[in-house]
Amino acid sequence: MTETIGVIGAGTMGNGIAQVAARAGYTVVMRDVKDEFLERGLKSIDRSLQRDVDKARLAEEEKRAIVGRITATTELGALEGAAFVVEAVTENFAVKSEIFRALDELCRPEAILASNTSSISITKLGGATRRPDRVIGMHFRNPVPVMKLVEVIRGIATSDETYARTHALTERLEKIPLECNDSPGFVSNRVLMPMINEAIFALHESVATREAIDGIMKLGMNHPMGPLTLADFIGLDVCLAILNVLHEELGDPKYRPCPLLKRYVDAGWLGRKSGRGFYEYSDK
Ligand code: CAA
Repeated sequence: MTETIGVIGAGTMGNGIAQVAARAGYTVVMRDVKDEFLERGLKSIDRSLQRDVDKARLAEEEKRAIVGRITATTELGALEGAAFVVEAVTENFAVKSEIFRALDELCRPEAILASNTSSISITKLGGATRRPDRVIGMHFRNPVPVMKLVEVIRGIATSDETYARTHALTERLEKIPLECNDSPGFVSNRVLMPMINEAIFALHESVATREAIDGIMKLGMNHPMGPLTLADFIGLDVCLAILNVLHEELGDPKYRPCPLLKRYVDAGWLGRKSGRGFYEYSDK
């Protein structure tokens, strides 16, 4: 029997993780709190797989089989039999720790509970459970079907066996696991977010236009997207939440979020998902 992977959250990251797990042959249970979130997640999976069908990289019947391996549900109880659960909900410790506590009650003792958090402490999430040795970070990147990296984060109590099983799962998902220890922002966001924040300061201080800032980094550093475009892609609320974690937990003023970023988030200009961030998106 194939193992079941549970995914908590059907948003951008959750539905991407559900998709790659189902594509790798796993049975997937994707859970969110509202049917409309699940429907949106399933639509996004369908759109993403359709790209490969259109490019003749995936047969229509394989696509149907992948989608058929995903059960979308609002019932947390449906994750009871999962061997592995990946949580991908909002970047909020209270929300995540409550989910970890509930999963710990529900899931089999040997099940591994992973978080896709981009900055919250894995050690602290482990502390919300009675199985901190089987709690780990699996930080995927957006867009999940395309990006190869998974940052695998060990909390202070994460066991070697949990790490080895997570490493093996990541490879079965055709991703590349890179290990790192539990520290605010891990490696990816500790390096990425100060760059994005500095680009926002450059805009705030009128060093250059948004197009010039992005163009300089794109053409000059060979980045696929300029930092302001990337911030819009990630979500300005997510960038602010991560910078706040870096600032509060590392205590260094160099992580202070730019006031312009705060102002945009206050205005509800959250980037691509809200139709406006540093740029305007007419498809919203
Ligand atoms: N699903 C499936 N395939 C997708 C996709 C999706 N959602 N989005 C893009 N693709 C595929 C396209 O089909 C295309 O495939 P082929 O080249 O094989 O035909 C390929 O990706 C490139 O896409 P496009 O041609 O549409 O556009 P692009 O060349 O501009 O690439 C991009 C788009 C891959 C997003 C690229 O701009 C990029 O790599 N940007 C940087 C992404 C990044 O840094 N992500 C990390 C964000 S941070 C994060 O995730 C977590 C955090 O902690 C904040």
